[in-house]
Amino acid sequence: MAHERTSEDLSPEQRIEALREELRHHEHLYYVMDAPVWTDAQYDARMNELRALEAEHPELLTADSPTQRVGGKPKEGFAKVAHSRPMLSLDNAYDEAELRAWAERVAGGLALGESVRYVCELKLDGLSLALQYVAGRRGAAVLKTGVTRGDGTVGEDVTTNVRTIRSVPLQVSGERLKRAGLPQEFEVRGEVVLPQKAFERMNVEREAAGLAPAANPRNAAAGTIRTLEPNVVAQRRLEFFAYFLLREGESLLAEQSVALQALRDAGFLVNPHARTVDSIDGVLGFIAEADAMRDGLPYEIDGVVIKVDAVVQQRRLGFTGKAPRWAIAYKFPARAGVTLLEDVLFGVGRTGKITPVAVLRPVSIGGTTVTRATLHNPDEIARLGVRIGDFVSVERGGDVIPKITEVVEDAKHPRGEREIVLPTHCPRCGEALVREPGEVDLRCVNVSCPARLEEELRHFASRSVMNIEGLGEAMVAQLLGHTLAEQEERSPEDAEAAEDAAEEPTRKALVHSIADVYTLTKGDLLTLERVGEKTADSLLEQIERSKKQPLQRVLLGLGIRHVGERTAQALAEEFGSIDALIAATEEELTRVNDIGPKVAATVREFFSNERNLALVERLRGYGLTFTAERKVRGTALSGLTFVLTGTLPTLTREEAKERIEAAGGKVSGSVSKKTSYVVAGEEAGSKLEKAEQLGVAVVDEAGLLAMLG
Ligand code: IVH
Repeated sequence: MAHERTSEDLSPEQRIEALREELRHHEHLYYVMDAPVWTDAQYDARMNELRALEAEHPELLTADSPTQRVGGKPKEGFAKVAHSRPMLSLDNAYDEAELRAWAERVAGGLALGESVRYVCELKLDGLSLALQYVAGRRGAAVLKTGVTRGDGTVGEDVTTNVRTIRSVPLQVSGERLKRAGLPQEFEVRGEVVLPQKAFERMNVEREAAGLAPAANPRNAAAGTIRTLEPNVVAQRRLEFFAYFLLREGESLLAEQSVALQALRDAGFLVNPHARTVDSIDGVLGFIAEADAMRDGLPYEIDGVVIKVDAVVQQRRLGFTGKAPRWAIAYKFPARAGVTLLEDVLFGVGRTGKITPVAVLRPVSIGGTTVTRATLHNPDEIARLGVRIGDFVSVERGGDVIPKITEVVEDAKHPRGEREIVLPTHCPRCGEALVREPGEVDLRCVNVSCPARLEEELRHFASRSVMNIEGLGEAMVAQLLGHTLAEQEERSPEDAEAAEDAAEEPTRKALVHSIADVYTLTKGDLLTLERVGEKTADSLLEQIERSKKQPLQRVLLGLGIRHVGERTAQALAEEFGSIDALIAATEEELTRVNDIGPKVAATVREFFSNERNLALVERLRGYGLTFTAERKVRGTALSGLTFVLTGTLPTLTREEAKERIEAAGGKVSGSVSKKTSYVVAGEEAGSKLEKAEQLGVAVVDEAGLLAMLG
C-alpha cells in the first residue's frame, strides 16, 4: 500500500489534526460500526506517525487525541463522585401477566385513552456507567469523566479505565454534534459489558496464573472496570453500549427512540436490537425474538428493558422510591436448576492440577441436559459447604461450564450426609498430592503421572502448539496403551467406568514421555487398532514436520506452568535460544515484558529440574527447533518510506535501517515526494534541504524511536 500524503505543505498542527480526524473516523468504523476499512497496518502506521508528531510537538498534545487512551494509573484508588441525578434501578417483571399489570399502571397514570409507545431494548448483563462530556476545542465535546453506578447516588470515578474502551469516543466533533442535534455538554449513560470471548480469554489467563476464574461476564466486567492498571483494562476489550442521553440530570431529547438515534449519530455504540412498538403484544413479540437470539449474541443479556418513549409521559409517570414507573425490566427465566449432587470426582490436568468435578443427577437447564459441573478447587467446596447428597443450584451461562452456586435446603430438599473427602493421593498414579503455600489447588507433582502425560501429549500435539495432525485424543489414548473399547468407557458420560478404566490400560504403552513421539516407528503404529499403512505414514510425516515448528511453540509444548502463548513468544524473542533461556537467572527473566516474578520462578524451576533438562536434550537430539527464527517483520511502519541523512546520536545508519525494515518500513536513498520522513542527524546536508523544499516531514532520532514504539 502506498502511503498517501494528503498534502505536502501542512503545518505540523494541521497534519496532527488531520491524522486525529482520520484515526477517529476509522476507530468508529472499526469499533462501533463493525465495518473496518483500514488494515491493522494502515491503522498502526497513522497512529505511529501521530505519536511521533506529538512527541516532537508536545505543546500540541491534547487529552482527546486517539493516542491518549491508555494513561497513567490512578494514584490512590478511585475518587467518589455524586451523580447528576441518581442512577436508579428498574422494577422487574418475570412473565406476561406482570408485564400487562405494569402496562395497566402506566395507562392509569396517564389520561384516559392516551396512547403509549414503548421502546424495547435488550437488557445487557453488565454494569452501568455515566459519562460526562464537556465543551472542548472547535465546538467539539470531550469526555471528562466516567463514573460507576455505585450506590446509585455516589459512584466511583473510573475515567482512566473508561478511556481505554474503544467504543467510547474521547471526543465528538462539532460536526457530529450538529448532525446528532446535541449540545457540547451532555451526559451519556449506558452499560459496560465484557463480550463472551474476552471473558473466556480472561479466565484462561486467570487460571494460568493460579487465580480463581471470574464467575460470569458481569462480575468480570465489574472487576475489570475497577482494576487499577489501565493497561490491563485496555487489553480486556470491554464494550460500552449507550442507552440514555441526559443534560443536567434531565432527558435531553423528547423521546427515548430519538435519543438512541442521536447517540448513534454522535458516534456512540448503541445496541442495534431496539424497537419502538405501540402495544404490549408488540413488546411480547420483541421479547420472543430477543430470547431466540440470546445464545447467538457475543455478549450476555438477561432480559429486555421496556421504556415509555415520550419524555413528557415519563415525567407524568414519575418514580416510586428507587425505580421509574415509566420503565420495567422483563427478566428471562434464570438458566439455573436444582438437582442432586451424586458424587464428586477429581480430574488431573496437564500441569497436575486436581479439579473437583460434580456428578449431577441429569437436569435440563435452558434446553441443555447438564450432568457435570465444576467445583473449581477445594476452597470453593469449603465456601459452598456442600456435601454429597445435597441438592444444589446449578447455573449455566453461555458457553461456560456449568457451576454450582449454592446448596438448596428446604422441606423438599434435605441436606446430604456424605462429606466430600479431598484426595490425599493422585487418583491416577497414587502419588501424594501437594498444595503449595499461597495456592488454592491440589496438585500431582509426579511428572510421569499417566493422567498428566495424557494431557501433556494432547497439548503438545494440538493445533496451536506442535500441530501434529492425527495425534488427537483417541490416538494419544492408544499410544498410552488404551484400547478403543476402553476409551468408550472412559467417555465423560460414565464417570464410574471412567475412573476404573483410567487405572489399568490393557496394552503396553508406546510412549512414556513427549520425546517418545519422535521414536515411534511404522511398525509400532501398525500394532494399533484401526491404523493402516496410510494412517501410519501420514502420522509419521506430521511428526517429522513438527520438528520445524519455531522455538516459541516448542517452549509452549514443554508445558511449563504459567507459560502460555504470549509468554512463550516473549521468551523466544528475548532469549533467542533454549540454551540462553536455560542459563537465564530469575532476575533476567523478570526483565522480559509481561513476565512477573511468579512466572520467572516457575520457568527457572522448570529448567533446574534434571528430568526436564533431559527431556530438552532428547528433543534436541531428534532435531526440534531450539533457536528462534528471525524476528517477524512488524507492521508499525508499513507503508512509510524513510530517508536517512547525517549522523544520528546513538544509532548507526545500518542499525536505523534494520530497525525501520524490521517494523515494516522502507528505506530509500533519495528524497522525493513519495518520501514519508527524512530522519536527520548531525551535519545533514542536501537531503535535508530537499526535504524542506518538498515539504517532507523531518524527524530526528528521538522521533524515529517514538514511531518504532
Ligand atoms: S435503563 C432508570 N436500559 O439494568 C433506568 N438499563 O435492572 C435505568 N441495563 O441499572 C436503566 N441494559 O445496569 C436500562 N437497555 C438498558 C439496560 C439497562 C441493561 C441494566 C442497568 C440497570 C439495570 C436495571
